[in-house]
Amino acid sequence: MDDHRFETREVHSHERRDPFGALMPPIYANSTYEYASPTETKAGFRYSRDAVPTRTALEESFANFEGGEHASAFASGMAAIDAVFTATLSAGDHVVAAENLYAETHDLLTDVYADYGVEMTHVPVTDTEAIRDAMREETALVYFESPTNPVLNVGDIAAAADVAHDGDAALAIDNTFASPYLQRPLELGADVVVESLTKYQCGHSDAIAGAVATNDTEIAEDVEYVQYRRGGIPSPFDCFLVVRGMKTLSSRMDRHCENARRVVDALVANEHVTEVYYPGLESHENHDVAARQMDDYGAMIAFELEGDVDTVTEFAAGLDVITLAESLGGVESLVEVPATMTHQDLSSEALAAAGIPETLVRLSIGTEHHADLVADIEGAIAAAFE
Ligand SMILES: Cc1ncc(COP(=O)(O)O)c(C=O)c1O
Repeated sequence: MDDHRFETREVHSHERRDPFGALMPPIYANSTYEYASPTETKAGFRYSRDAVPTRTALEESFANFEGGEHASAFASGMAAIDAVFTATLSAGDHVVAAENLYAETHDLLTDVYADYGVEMTHVPVTDTEAIRDAMREETALVYFESPTNPVLNVGDIAAAADVAHDGDAALAIDNTFASPYLQRPLELGADVVVESLTKYQCGHSDAIAGAVATNDTEIAEDVEYVQYRRGGIPSPFDCFLVVRGMKTLSSRMDRHCENARRVVDALVANEHVTEVYYPGLESHENHDVAARQMDDYGAMIAFELEGDVDTVTEFAAGLDVITLAESLGGVESLVEVPATMTHQDLSSEALAAAGIPETLVRLSIGTEHHADLVADIEGAIAAAFE
């Protein structure tokens, strides 16, 4: 199956293990498995924190999508990210991370791992030389999202991999905003890819999960060690929902991207919009890098309106089709204000350092009809400026 195109592999990417021939991996709501003898399981499964057929199917699919030999699934994207940090870092190590990270990833590094004796330097990921300048003898990990949440910076993954490897460090990429249909960091040279499956892979806003994939056996073993010891595993039901979503990732993503293009065109043309952040725009700082390493530009857009926080509040209130909510990657379009919603835990200094103005608006463009989305946005902007 590996030689087939993504659209074929996504439908057939896990082994079918069900004894009755079920096409989809059933929800094995089960904690323990019968042994054939004290030294031999009956069918390879022994205890559900260790492995469950439903989760194994998800891990096989994720590994296939990302081009990784090994994959481990977790109860959330954050649990997966935490496993990457535990697997790659020890006390005294140094991390070079993007100045613009999902807020909880930022907090995990600056609060939790700082307490374990890990130091961090924030850099703009759009500048590979800044990554090189920040490298130290003790740097064990270079870590960033691409595109970044929420201002859609794009880092050059292949160039960052060279810099990390020159310094004997690993490069880990959070691929949540792109999804493996649009970008495969391992193929570009990253050592680890991590993703919130809650978003595009699940695609229907009905489950929380995360996963890590790698071709590095040592890192894979460490991640599996953390998965089993810390026990942050997804439930079989959530695995089932995510596997179901993964089978339609490419068709949804194509439509997400096409819709996003239409919305970006409308935003750029709107007289009240002062800034549009979208890697597909030729004016985007790293458009050329995005064009090289992504198959399309995704469906996350950020923008700024004239006016102040009240204008943004009025804009959000004026939307009808698009819902004011956190998260992204579902079939329904969402709008949010990062400074007071997803990134509310960041201090005003951290928000400024991450380049997140309080008036920034983030859109996750869904799969509704593009004309309805554009009309909704244009109508809400007009109402906010009436
Ligand atoms: C880029 C990115 N990484 C990781 C996460 C965390 O994922 P989860 O909510 O599944 O823990 C998020 C959540 O929004 C995210 O946007």
